[in-house]
Amino acid sequence: MEKIKSLMNRIGVSEEAQSDVLNSYQCLSEKGDIKELKETSKKIMEDFNKEEYLLFLGRINAADNKSKVHPYMVACIFILLCATYLENLFVKRGIDKKIYIDSISDIWCKMEECKKLYNVWGIFASTWFWGLFAMEIFKLGRLQFQTAHVWFDECETINVKQGDNALFIHIPSDGALSPEEVVASLKDAYAFFECKGNVPFFLHSWLTQPGNENIFPKGSNLRWLYEQFTIFKFEDDNFRDCWRIFNVEYNGNPDSLPQETRLQKNIVSYLKNGGRMGCGYGVLLFDGKNIFKPEIC
Ligand SMILES: CC(C)(COP(=O)(O)OP(=O)(O)OC[C@H]1O[C@@H](n2cnc3c(N)ncnc32)[C@H](O)[C@@H]1OP(=O)(O)O)[C@@H](O)C(=O)NCCC(=O)NCCS
Repeated sequence: MEKIKSLMNRIGVSEEAQSDVLNSYQCLSEKGDIKELKETSKKIMEDFNKEEYLLFLGRINAADNKSKVHPYMVACIFILLCATYLENLFVKRGIDKKIYIDSISDIWCKMEECKKLYNVWGIFASTWFWGLFAMEIFKLGRLQFQTAHVWFDECETINVKQGDNALFIHIPSDGALSPEEVVASLKDAYAFFECKGNVPFFLHSWLTQPGNENIFPKGSNLRWLYEQFTIFKFEDDNFRDCWRIFNVEYNGNPDSLPQETRLQKNIVSYLKNGGRMGCGYGVLLFDGKNIFKPEIC
């Protein structure tokens, strides 16, 4: 318990959420459930076993557990336990501890998202964390970067082929995102991944769907970010990422969505005018100093 308490302090988990985690941990201990979580997290992190990680999460989410702790909270405790083992892997690979703490601070972002969406302290996006545990995703400055195989085939004009390893950007929901932070993060990533020449960075997100000039306010951080990317593909997913903006799942009725921020108002009006929300594929090139927009045919 001390290890996850210390970890929560290091990543800035609020007192209220910490106390919920610790009470749940206690509850799981009393019912004898914590032993399995501890042993499984240790084994999975030692064996680096993605399949076992996903299977175990599946069992957590399906469980009607005796302790009456919410499955999202059980998943959160399991992820915190796994994260305590990750620190050693960073040390072994000679990676700065700050990068470890910054990377796993995503646990707190995901806990806040879970609270906003389901009113439960816990983690629903639990499968996502394998990328961090497998050391494929690192937070460098404000942004996260993932090395992954390219699964699309539209980018041959910028010398990226399906199956190549490439860098993907992810944006944690921990506050505003200024252009300066984006450039600083890209510079950190360029150095961290020992890049050379013009390097493509991909963003697969609602932020890079075509038509966002209609919903991102002029002069905003979002608009600036959007304009840095060449968008080459779009998947209409009936607004699967609605929760990221409205803290609710989309039920198909724009009028049911809250309209507090300019972005929310613009999206509601866009949807009412027949606009579709989904996931776009964007790419930018970075040479270590400057961003370029590539041409893709
Ligand atoms: C990307 C992100 C960090 C940008 O935030 P930002 O820098 O504050 O954005 P801007 O300054 O350009 O905001 C412009 C307007 O949009 C609003 N806005 C921005 N992001 C918003 C969000 N996620 N939900 C609701 N409103 C949002 C702002 O409040 C502002 O409106 P206001 O002036 O009425 O308050 C933010 O949208 C975010 O955290 N998103 C969730 C994470 C995410 O979606 N990641 C991508 C995963 S695929």
